[in-house]
Amino acid sequence: MKALIKTVADETAKAFAAAGYDESFGKVTVSNRPDLCEYQCNGAMAAKKTYGKNPREIAEDVAGALADSTIISSAEVAGPGFLNLKVSPAFLADYAQKMADSDRLAVDPAENPMTIILDYGGPNVAKPLHVGHLRSAIIGESLKRIGRFAGHKVTGDVHLGDWGLQMGLIIAELHERKPDLVYYDESYTGEYPEEAPFTISELEEIYPAASAKSKTDEDFRNEALEATKQLQQGRRGYRAIWQHIINVSVSDLKKNYAKLSVDFDLWKSESDAQPYIPDMIEKMKEDGVAVYDQGALIVDVKEEGDSKEIPPCILLKSDGASLYATTDLATIVERMKLFNPDKMLYVVDKRQEMHFTQVFRTARKAGLVRPETQFQFLGFGTMNGKDGKPFKTRSGGVMRLEELIGDINAEMLKKIVENKGYRDSEAEETAKIVGLSAIKYGDLSNQATKDYVFDVDRFTSFEGNTGPYILYTIVRIKSILERFRKDGGNAEDCRIAPAVSESEKTLMLHTAGFASAVETAWNETAPHKLCSYIYELSNDLNHFYHETRILAETDEEQKKSWIALLNLVKRVLEQSIDLLGFSAPERM
Ligand code: ARG
Repeated sequence: MKALIKTVADETAKAFAAAGYDESFGKVTVSNRPDLCEYQCNGAMAAKKTYGKNPREIAEDVAGALADSTIISSAEVAGPGFLNLKVSPAFLADYAQKMADSDRLAVDPAENPMTIILDYGGPNVAKPLHVGHLRSAIIGESLKRIGRFAGHKVTGDVHLGDWGLQMGLIIAELHERKPDLVYYDESYTGEYPEEAPFTISELEEIYPAASAKSKTDEDFRNEALEATKQLQQGRRGYRAIWQHIINVSVSDLKKNYAKLSVDFDLWKSESDAQPYIPDMIEKMKEDGVAVYDQGALIVDVKEEGDSKEIPPCILLKSDGASLYATTDLATIVERMKLFNPDKMLYVVDKRQEMHFTQVFRTARKAGLVRPETQFQFLGFGTMNGKDGKPFKTRSGGVMRLEELIGDINAEMLKKIVENKGYRDSEAEETAKIVGLSAIKYGDLSNQATKDYVFDVDRFTSFEGNTGPYILYTIVRIKSILERFRKDGGNAEDCRIAPAVSESEKTLMLHTAGFASAVETAWNETAPHKLCSYIYELSNDLNHFYHETRILAETDEEQKKSWIALLNLVKRVLEQSIDLLGFSAPERM
């Protein structure tokens, strides 16, 4: 179904044409003076030059042509020639009812669906998930859901970091601790044990210890470097340890992502891309795209018009080792081969922007993708503590994700119990559901590229622009619908009627803007715009609720139309939070 604003714009354009003006002047925006009108058209002012006429006169002509419109019920000329427009309540009710009748809430799927690989999450094997990875998971998951709802084929890839020095560090450290492990015996040719020689907690302790040691102990660092190299060259025993590290890590990661309602279609990793490197490099050398410079193999990616220096992309160091960029390029080769996507979208810390500029330019220059394949880097800002510095634990360490979730859930539980005045068996489950909304909405309601302050008190509040407030609104509707049902009503039989109050009309208008909100959030890769939309919608709902005695209404038909509207608002809110990656409890 055509978006409401588009319907209003088309109607206005038609009126321009009917009054003898070009219909391109019929553009319409949502009014910034909701007290005066709902939509606004400034086309008469723009038409002044073309027709050499007073804009007020033009506007009057258009208003005249709109007199019989069934879509626009009032068109008033204001100021130098603005057209203030109001939508017909009957048309609006009909529009809202059509949304209610559609299981997609009247959002049409994209006409040209794209195949998109979404690269998000990006955790590193063996290192515990920390808050830095939280943002990528939250934002990426939401974009995946919004993209799919918009009709695209979006495949989420976790792109596991499993090919770096951290692997060599663990292998070297484990060697010192357990030198007799069969993995280190080069003469061993038998099968390796199925069970890993460590648990996840051991692994999480081994890595930081090894990493710290490598900073002060040069011999150890060299051992780790050597182990990394031998692993990459395929030493059997090291490969076996590496596989254990991956298995143990991945099952732990999956558990943690599940707690966040984050789910990947692909568990591909940096190591999966390695087989593509040799041919890719050979071809780039042959084509003259890659050249040797002081022993290193590089690609010059400077472009005319660059406002800052873009250093060359290094493919191989002088010792022949490949780098992060090489892996990302080989991953692009792999993705083109396996999925031939129209677009690759990366949700990564904005400090990696230069890396991706180099990678994207190299990929184009080397023809690794089709000319029309799109690359997009969505770089997100840092999650800070109240002190404005990157979020830390109370003792100053790097905050682990599990701890952060635990803290939020505890705070949420406290508030829920306070709110109800008692603690019941549901409280803990509810706290988890609401806690997740606090974390995710707290993040998503900020523009992704900006840094933001993770403020537990604010994020868990039931008031203001927060996840719990949105859920509270949904739960409020659920409880009204439940009471209506208990009184013998059936919400599914109710139909939306023209609004009878300002607050009802505002609510209906806003509800009808859902398709536009989804479209904007997707086109601008901006989940925060969907957050603003549901925040305003929730405010409108609560305003309407406070002004209207819904269940006490004695006119049955009137009551039913309000129930139908509430039911629709509930569905719009529930669909929206699902697109943001969380859900609502039954009660709270
Ligand atoms: N593992 C990387 C990190 O922790 C993020 C990976 C992002 N994706 C990519 N294709 N490079 O910084």
